[in-house]
Order: sequence, then C-alpha cells, then structure tokens
Amino acid sequence: MNVIVMKNADEVCKRASELIGNVVKENKNAFLGLATGGTAEKVYSYLVEDYKNGNLDFSNCETINLDEYIGISEDHPQSYGTYMNERFFNHINIKKENTYVPVTTGDIQKELKKIDEMINSHGGADIQLLGVGVNGHIAFNEPSEKLNSKANVVDLNEETIKANSRFFNSIDEVPKKALSLGIGDILKSKKIVLIAFGKEKKDAIKELLKNDFITTNCPCTFLKAHRDVTIIIDKEISDEIGI
Ligand code: F6R
Repeated sequence: MNVIVMKNADEVCKRASELIGNVVKENKNAFLGLATGGTAEKVYSYLVEDYKNGNLDFSNCETINLDEYIGISEDHPQSYGTYMNERFFNHINIKKENTYVPVTTGDIQKELKKIDEMINSHGGADIQLLGVGVNGHIAFNEPSEKLNSKANVVDLNEETIKANSRFFNSIDEVPKKALSLGIGDILKSKKIVLIAFGKEKKDAIKELLKNDFITTNCPCTFLKAHRDVTIIIDKEISDEIGI
C-alpha cells in the first residue's frame, strides 16, 4: 500500500483529485468508481476546477457510485444521487446516461443484477475513490461477522446513523438501510484511493496501516489484499497513529 500524508484535509482532497484526473487523462473512456460523504466533497470541487481549466474531459467517461440510501426519494436533498449531481455531474461534460448511482426506489433485485453486470463488463472500476467510516466501513459494508462480496441491501449500524445524522434535520430522518457495493466489487477495481482526515477516523486507519491482519470487524482492512491501493491521510491522523 502506498501511503501519502498531506498537511490538511484540503491537500488530501487535492491529491486524490489529481490521481483521478490522471486516470481520466490517460484513458478517455475511464470507468470511475465514486464515493459520497463529507470527505469526498472537496475532491469533486478540485476535479470540477480542473475541468473548468480545460485539463479534463469527461465526455466519454462512465461512473458508478458505491451506495445509495434506501427509504428516501431519488431527488431527496440528502440522496447520494442529489449529492453527485450537485457537486460533480452538473458541472462537468459527462453524459448523464453514463453516470450511475444505485436506484433504490424500484425493483432492488433488478438493480443488484444491473450493478453486477456493469462491474463485470468493465472488469471493475479503473479507479475507485473511497472514504472510510469511523468504524472502518467502506461503501456501506459495516463491521460484521460476514461481509457481502457483491452489491446488496445492508443495514446501517448505529455509529454510521449517528455520524450521518449531521446531514439530516434529526437522527430519526437518517435511513436505516442502503444499497451498497460489496467488498469483492471494490477489490475488482484496478486502482483504489482511500482518503481520510480528522482524528475521528484514526482507529480505522490504524487497523488498516498499523496491523497486519484482515478482519470483517474493520472492513477497510480488506484493502490490504489489493495490489494498487493509495491511502491519503492528513497529518492529524498520522500524528495520532504514529506514522
Ligand atoms: C459514501 C460511502 C461511505 C463514506 C463514509 C465516510 O459513498 O461509501 O463509506 O465514505 O461513510 O463518510 P464521511 O466522508 O461523511 O465521513
């Protein structure tokens, strides 16, 4: 694993946007695996800035998102579909039909099949952006005895519901379920870049970087089994865990 320490959150996001931008520059048909959440927001600002400066062309790119809540409408202000449109897709020259955020308002089984076909036909994302939950989840694969390999419906755990309540009016409004890509789907990606900043993520990053084992109790540890992973963290985390 390649580990990069940047001085602050902004720099973490900038570096991640450069790695994604490089893939887009090298391959105009790139299939990008995208994440939402607070951590990824600035990555999209930097990619949009780079696009507006004429450095990136998304016209032939395709995208797939990691997850979507179940129980809120597609156009809900906190849906991940809305997030992606507002922060990224509406500001670049990507074709909307080439973007995919899981749709959770219709036939979910059909959607899971569609995701499987999409990932397999591309042989995985050319680059997958990941954030990490305070509990070590990647996408919405929560710590548990067993993890899904493929996309499935998952229950969000209490820690995640609490962490995500900052985006809703009250904790009761946070959906309890989501559709999430599985660990196997993520590991099929050709390159993975995981970003994290702020000391609340330190335990997850410690399990990932300081211990040798892989455990379903901390799903991000599965990234140790992938051959092209870059972890970008801020100095705050690196100081906390001593790297
Ligand atoms: C979002 C996702 C999640 C988030 C994680 C961190 O698409 O898959 O795994 O990356 O919950 O969320 P933030 O960045 O809000 O701390």
